[in-house]
Amino acid sequence: PRTIALVVAAGSGSRMGQDLPKQYLTLGGKAVLRHCLDTFHRHPRIAGVRVVINPACRDLYDAAAAGLDIMTPVAGGRSRQESVRLGLGSLVEAAPDYVLIHDAARPFIDADTIDRTIDTLSHHAGALVVVPVVDTLKRGTERQGALFSGATIDRAGLFRAQTPQGFRFGAILAAHKAASTGLEMTDDAAVAEAAGLDVALVTGHEDNFKITNPADLARAERLMSEQME
Ligand code: C5P
Repeated sequence: PRTIALVVAAGSGSRMGQDLPKQYLTLGGKAVLRHCLDTFHRHPRIAGVRVVINPACRDLYDAAAAGLDIMTPVAGGRSRQESVRLGLGSLVEAAPDYVLIHDAARPFIDADTIDRTIDTLSHHAGALVVVPVVDTLKRGTERQGALFSGATIDRAGLFRAQTPQGFRFGAILAAHKAASTGLEMTDDAAVAEAAGLDVALVTGHEDNFKITNPADLARAERLMSEQME
């Protein structure tokens, strides 16, 4: 099956507290975004890579993707969901069998997880990379301006969603179109579930975390230097 990687990189990354959006910060000598582009580009089962960007960041994108033979980028939207929908729409002509949707802010995606995601799509419409929840979960409740532990949520059977999230192309395109008028969803598996698609879980790695806060960049630098040793 022809598989295209759709990398969403149109966010502003405001929680990082930096001028540059986090996907364009430097990590291990190259842009955060470039790490996952290299991994998808050299993967033998990935036929193409398309990035969804904020057009105002075109120069940053060109620098990050310099010399890489991938598809031309397309413009994203105000939300991640809108960016994915626009990205999927841009792939109609290319008509892939599968699409793997990935956050630019996850530089540590590995080839083996990509393989297992693609393998899962031969049996299911969707494949979601997750890691099990290991901490005990609490619901905070506020009383008199302070936060208290309101309830303990059983962590058994709970997972944290990562990316890539892989889908049969036609199914996820239709699901995103159908979801475009409803409440905003933070991942594509939620969009797929709302359309009644079955989304199988693929166990991923803790290292495939999303760079969100300043501390995440320091963690990423440490992990990067360990991997380079
Ligand atoms: O903000 P968050 O970390 O959840 O964003 C996840 C991914 O979605 C990031 O790679 C970000 O660049 C992308 N995104 C996007 N368009 C937006 C918002 C976020 O492509 N409007």
